[in-house]
Amino acid sequence: MHLHSTIARLRSASRVAVLTGAGVSAESGIPTFRDAQTGLWRKFDPLQLATAEAFARNPKLVWEWYEWRRELCRDKQPNPGHIALAEMATLFSDFTLITQNIDGLHQRAGSREVIELHGNLERDKCARENIVVDRAQARARDGMFACPRCGAYLRPDVVWFGETLPQESLDRAFRAAMQCDAFLAVGTSALVEPAASLPRVAKQAGAFVVEINPDETPLSPLADAVVRAKSGDALPALLAALREENK
Ligand code: OAD
Repeated sequence: MHLHSTIARLRSASRVAVLTGAGVSAESGIPTFRDAQTGLWRKFDPLQLATAEAFARNPKLVWEWYEWRRELCRDKQPNPGHIALAEMATLFSDFTLITQNIDGLHQRAGSREVIELHGNLERDKCARENIVVDRAQARARDGMFACPRCGAYLRPDVVWFGETLPQESLDRAFRAAMQCDAFLAVGTSALVEPAASLPRVAKQAGAFVVEINPDETPLSPLADAVVRAKSGDALPALLAALREENK
């Protein structure tokens, strides 16, 4: 579909939902999971690092891997893609930003009320009670932290493989997908459920679905428009075009 008609469709939408994945943070210098050369899951085994079983088996290894990622994200900055999404929110009466990312860069770019489907690296929770705990209140234990109430190790408040997503976030995300006029899928391989179902649900409910991704994904054939570009280029261009038409 021609860019002009894509803009026109977006322009006529009042309810917009956006799903982002690791690709939106790639230009900030944060590695994605599945890109051929640089993806984290090319070098690390998710079964050893991103499951409750792995944490039970070797808590220190899992903890340190997440500490490494936390440090990695901390000195990175939002890129023009994150910033364009924060600004795009002001153009629509209803704008829902849903992310699979745990790096907090959307918030740092100024987006509010971000639905974080997979948690956030900056938070910890008690591995037994599943309650968020502030590190400053926790006890040190074995080079990690222990819950001040029950003594169990703290773990990052992120969603691991085999775990369910936070129910309220999930409900809000699916509601937004079902009710939106336009849905943007940005920088996600659209392989991990249930997030991968969001654009499909939106499409079935009649939304205009746009994919922004330099590479083909399983979502591509279903999308009404595909922008084969990096999000740090495509989103600011889209924002500028939407503003142009708004004049
Ligand atoms: P993936 O690594 O699976 O996919 C990243 C996508 O971003 C790919 O389709 C790339 O083509 C695309 N991409 C790369 N650079 C880009 C750029 N500059 N602009 C736009 N797109 C770009 O990451 P996710 O789809 O986020 O979950 O992965 C989903 C989930 O799988 C993650 O949340 C994580 C992972 O395992 C958990 O850890 C639970």
